[in-house]
Formats: sequence, structure tokens, C-alpha cells
Amino acid sequence: MQRTQHWWQEAVVYQVYPRSFADSNGDGIGDIKGIQSRVPHLADLGVDALWLSPHYVSPMLDAGYDVADYRDVDPIFGNLSDFQELINTLHEAGIKMLVDIVPNHTSWEHAWFKEALAHPPINDPAVPALTRYTEGPWARYHLLRGRENGTVEPNQWPSVFGGLTWHQVPDAAGEPSGWWYLHIFDKSQPDLDWTNPEVRSEFLGHLKFWFDMGVDGFRIDVAHGLAKAEGYPDFTQPTASDPTNHVAYWDQDPVHEIWREWREVAEQYDPPRVFVAEAWVNPAERNALYLRHDELHTGFNFPYLTAAWNGKALRRVIDESLHGNYLVGAPTTWVLENHDVWRAATRYAPLANGEEAASLDANLDISKSANWSEPRNLEIGVHRARAGIMTMLALPGTAYIYQGQELGLEEVFDIPDELRQDPAFANTGGENLGRDGCRVPLPWDNTSETFGFNSAEKSWLPQPRRWASKTVAAQLGDETSCLNLVRNALKLRKNLPALGGISLDSVDLIWDETPADIVSFVRPARKDGHAIRIVMNMGKASYALPAGDVLLASSEDAIVAGELTANNTVWLQA
Ligand code: NOJ
Ligand code: CA
Repeated sequence: MQRTQHWWQEAVVYQVYPRSFADSNGDGIGDIKGIQSRVPHLADLGVDALWLSPHYVSPMLDAGYDVADYRDVDPIFGNLSDFQELINTLHEAGIKMLVDIVPNHTSWEHAWFKEALAHPPINDPAVPALTRYTEGPWARYHLLRGRENGTVEPNQWPSVFGGLTWHQVPDAAGEPSGWWYLHIFDKSQPDLDWTNPEVRSEFLGHLKFWFDMGVDGFRIDVAHGLAKAEGYPDFTQPTASDPTNHVAYWDQDPVHEIWREWREVAEQYDPPRVFVAEAWVNPAERNALYLRHDELHTGFNFPYLTAAWNGKALRRVIDESLHGNYLVGAPTTWVLENHDVWRAATRYAPLANGEEAASLDANLDISKSANWSEPRNLEIGVHRARAGIMTMLALPGTAYIYQGQELGLEEVFDIPDELRQDPAFANTGGENLGRDGCRVPLPWDNTSETFGFNSAEKSWLPQPRRWASKTVAAQLGDETSCLNLVRNALKLRKNLPALGGISLDSVDLIWDETPADIVSFVRPARKDGHAIRIVMNMGKASYALPAGDVLLASSEDAIVAGELTANNTVWLQA
């Protein structure tokens, strides 16, 4: 049942991280045929769309977010015909397919960058610092003359993965050339120059290539990073009074022109194709600019993801998100996990000494800011993750589920250093643990050493033995499991008119007056349905629920003598 004009205004989207979902040929790495074999899991779960993290040809130095060929599938994942079959199978199951696109940078193995390296710049001391080198193939990238006669980086922009954003290229003799290319992420991910018309038209072609195959939309990687401030002004630390638009490579106004061009392409299709922006932009009003009618359809809600386990903070984030998006008439989205952040069960877990864990910074550096080695109470963390996903699934708009979130999986820390693959780990000398801990292959059943991820003995990252009780098969047989909780919630969400997507012209959510650590709101009744009340107890004490409401969904033992116990969410018919 669709209650809004467009499917993407109220969809539940399931993120598949292809390396770690299912491995069909036993080489230890997940692949497209593996995903294909597990489509029934997605259909039974009841999701509306799948978002696939990058499947393109890549040296995999950032797990595929370093693309060497945008129009083919990496051989470790399969080939174009496997991909086409996957789209067909998903569509037959009524599931849409979104894929990732990475326009901010290519891989250093992309033909364009190889061509550029084959045109080495000349080390000319007369050239002033920060001069752009735009000869031939370098015009597609940002190559700048360094300072102090080329020996020092052009500026002090920090890279997201540690160190500075500049790497010096050799001259024709293999000596340092004094010219440096820009890489906001790893040095294997050189940034493209989006003021170059050739770059723009090439990407419009990439979009059409996949749209023509039947892809329903794209998740756009680093959608706030493509435009760089003119003159490459130096980095200034954000301050409380100026928290936004200060970093010369994030959220620069000209980026919006690119999205308007892309939207035109999406609109040429029937049905129109859609975009979701990965944009880490604050405040909500600035984030909403990406979601104007002629730009991107939706964007991730990172303030929601990074909010701590705190009722007041969460209510504020929900209000600000709804308000920001209403300004431009865009649906709000909700997300608690993805392949870049700690699993919710671990994030929400209080420390063993009883203290609450700090909230996450809105960046990728989370392993640095949170102390991973401190013992945590995971049992409470898992309870909270379950409560969190229940609340998320009742909010107006689109919700994202990251593979394994439906199983209540926790972050894995016991990964040997030599197996860690995230460049953030190596680039920071291990100070930043990186993101491998949320990328551990999924446990399906107990039929093999790898819990059914493949039929071999190994997977690219080891799975903790304790996951034997958390497999899909084990959880299906347990009525009270996280998997069954999420499945039932998705069924109810589809069938209860009040939980429909946004209406934009009326009120979608009314707060109840409650103590600060209770998050309680009503989704008003719509056509022939009842109003639904959602109550989440983020406090320590039990909370007396309003009399007369009928229980629709809850975790096990959530209600004792009419009171909602701590760390639980219930859906009630109001
Ligand atoms: C954001 C992606 O989600 C992340 O995994 C990747 O490393 C960076 N963008 C760089 O592409
Ligand atoms: Ca494989």
C-alpha cells in the first residue's frame, strides 16, 4: 500500500555492503550472485528497496569507493549480466534497486588519472605557489604548485582519512615535481575538478548507463564535497558561532548546480529515477538546500544517526529534521547505521561503570572520538538498538536499515591488525580503528564455518564465534528475536495508515508531554485508521503508559503492570 505520491517518500531501504552480504563462490568475499540468492530474506523482511554500496571495478583500497571504471562490475563481485539478473530478481520481488555513485573522486587506477600521470608536470621554480596545472589530462583533477618552491603542500587541508589532502607527483625523471594533487580521502582517491565540463558530461553518461539497465536511483557519495572554494583558502577550525560552511571543500554553493543537472537526467525516465544524498551538512536549513524540488529527492539524516542515547537530544533532532525538510517540501529520512559508523548496539551501550557513552561526532573519525577499548554493557546496548529501530520505523518518511541491523549485531573489535582493510586505520597509524568492525560478513546459519556466508572455511574478515546464536536461521526460530521484531514492525508499518509517509501539508507527528527521557509522540489518524502512539523509554525508571491504548508491537517484557520498562519502545493504538 502506498500512501504518498512517490515510493521514495515512505520507503524502507535496506543497505547491502556487497563484500559482506553473501559469498556464492567461496573466495571469502561477498558477490552479486550471493546477493541474488538472498533476495528472499529481503522480501520476507518486507523492505521496499535495496541500496548497494559500490559494485564497480576498483583496486578496493577504500572498499570500492575508489572507482577505476564506472561502467562495469568488479570481477570479485561478478559481471554485468549477474548485475542485470539481480535487478530483474529484485524487481520481480517488488524491490527497487539503488546503487552508489562516487563522483567526488576516482581511483588512481582510473584511466583518466593514469593518463594524467603519463603527462608529468615540469618543476619550474618560477611558478608561484598555488598555481593550478591545467595542461591536458590534469585539467580533470586538482593539481597545484606547492608552497616553498613546491616542497610543501599547497595548503593545510586535512584529509578525512588522516594526514593532509595533498600528494606530490613525480616529474618526467621520477624526481619530486613540486606539484601536488588533491585527495580529500585516501591518496588513492584523487578529487575530480567539477568546474570542468568534460567531468560533468562524463558523469551524466554514467547515470544514463545504469538507469538504462533498470536501476531505480543512486545514493550519491560525498554529495557536499564536489565544489571547492576558489583559491583553495586554508582550513579554519569550526567555531560555535560559525559551525558551517567554513571548510573550503564542504558544502560550497556551486555544488547545487551539479545536482540540478543530475535531476534533469533522472526526470527524463519513466518512472523518474531518484537520488539520495550522502551530505554531512549542518544546520538542517542548509542541508535542506540539497533537497529542493529541482535537486536531490532525499538525503541521509546524519544528526539522527549521531545523536546519543538521550531523550531531549533525540527530540530536538527529530524536530529540526522535520522542520528543515518541510521548508523545501522534502521527505525526512531516518538512519541509525551504515558501513561507516559503529553498530547502534555498541554506540548505545553504556560503559560498564554505568556511565553513558558520548555521542558521535558528525564525521568519520568516530573510532578516535569514542573509546573502543573501554568495556561496555552490550546487553543494554542491544535492547536500545531494538528500541531505536522500532522508533525509527514509526517516524514519518523514509527509513534505512543497514545489513545486520535487523539481527541486532554489535560492532566487532577483535579483528587482527593485519586483516584490517580500512585505509583510515593505516593512515593514522592505528589511532583510528577504522570501519572494518561494522563490515564483518553476515551470519546466516550454522551450516558452515562462516555461518553460511559461504560454504568455505573463511571470510575476508573473521566473524566472532558468539554470533552462532545471532544467525538469521537462529533468530527466525525465536519469536522474541530482533529479526522477528523488525519483520513484524515492517508489516505493521505497511498496514497502519497512520504510519504512512509524509503529508507535508498537515501535521505528521504530535509530541506528548512527558519527562525528558521519554520520547512519546502520536502519528495522527488517517483515512479509516487509528492514531498510533509511539513511546520510547530512554531513562532508567519505568514509565506509566496512558490507560486505554492497545499494544501493537513491543520488545519482550517491555510492559510490566502497565509501565514501560527502560530501554524499550512500544507502538500503541491511541
Ligand atoms: C563516504 C562513504 O560512505 C565512505 O565509505 C567512503 O570511504 C567515503 N565516502 C569516500 O568515498
Ligand atoms: Ca565471492
